[in-house]
Amino acid sequence: MNIHWLEITIGAIAIAVVLTRVLSRGSGWLSWHFWRGAMIASSITMTTILLALSFLTLGETRPGAGRIPPWTVINHEIGLKWDAERQWQVPVVGEETGFFGKVWSPEEAEALVNKGKLTIQSRNCMECHTLLGNGAYYAPDLTRAWLDPWWDTRIKPIVGAETREEAMMKWLMNPPQYPQGTRRMPNLGLTEEEAKAVVAFLKWMSAIDTNGFPPHFSLTYEQR
Ligand code: HEC
Repeated sequence: MNIHWLEITIGAIAIAVVLTRVLSRGSGWLSWHFWRGAMIASSITMTTILLALSFLTLGETRPGAGRIPPWTVINHEIGLKWDAERQWQVPVVGEETGFFGKVWSPEEAEALVNKGKLTIQSRNCMECHTLLGNGAYYAPDLTRAWLDPWWDTRIKPIVGAETREEAMMKWLMNPPQYPQGTRRMPNLGLTEEEAKAVVAFLKWMSAIDTNGFPPHFSLTYEQR
């Protein structure tokens, strides 16, 4: 089903107006009955729309469907490509390269990415960062952090790592030891297993087609 946002908006306003009239039993707009009705009507309408949209998009938001990559994307090379039609960068999944020296099965990859998500929640990384646009603005958005060129150009040499995942893991285990910008990230006491899982989560997230979010990603490195 393909409903345009304009149809949803007009439909929502129409339903809310009719519901308000019914709930306030035709009271004039200066009466408190009208405004109580209007509040109940808009809450009911918006909740129904949110629920409907959540269910209608389930097929698109499941890992491995629509714009969300499967967990096993962590085994692959990931890049960004300019999409001339959509006018923004979209992730492209490349060859299978493995992750931390092995190819993870779907079950193993799911467990690892999930552990990464739980670790990120346990340390409240969103207190400083945004993930997919949610969170705070003290530190860089992490949606495409895996693709930041600085892992290869700067971090690999200073932490002494061979691969990008290893560089990221080592940096995350002790950021204050390798400060980069004027703002410092504290040491959040990640164990090696937790840091590895966080890297998996960030890599998986970097392959989500986010309609070009965050904009101007490729500039973040030069601007730092
Ligand atoms: C107190 C604020 C704060 C918290 C909490 C925090 N960070 Fe950071 N983070 C920063 C700052 C500041 C930087 C930039 C560091 C620098 O340039 O040296 C940063 C940088 C990063 C980068 C590099 C970003 C890039 O684009 O290359 C990653 C990845 C990262 N943080 C992950 C995390 C994760 C994962 C957590 C939670 C486990 C976390 N951060 C929690 C402040 C924070």
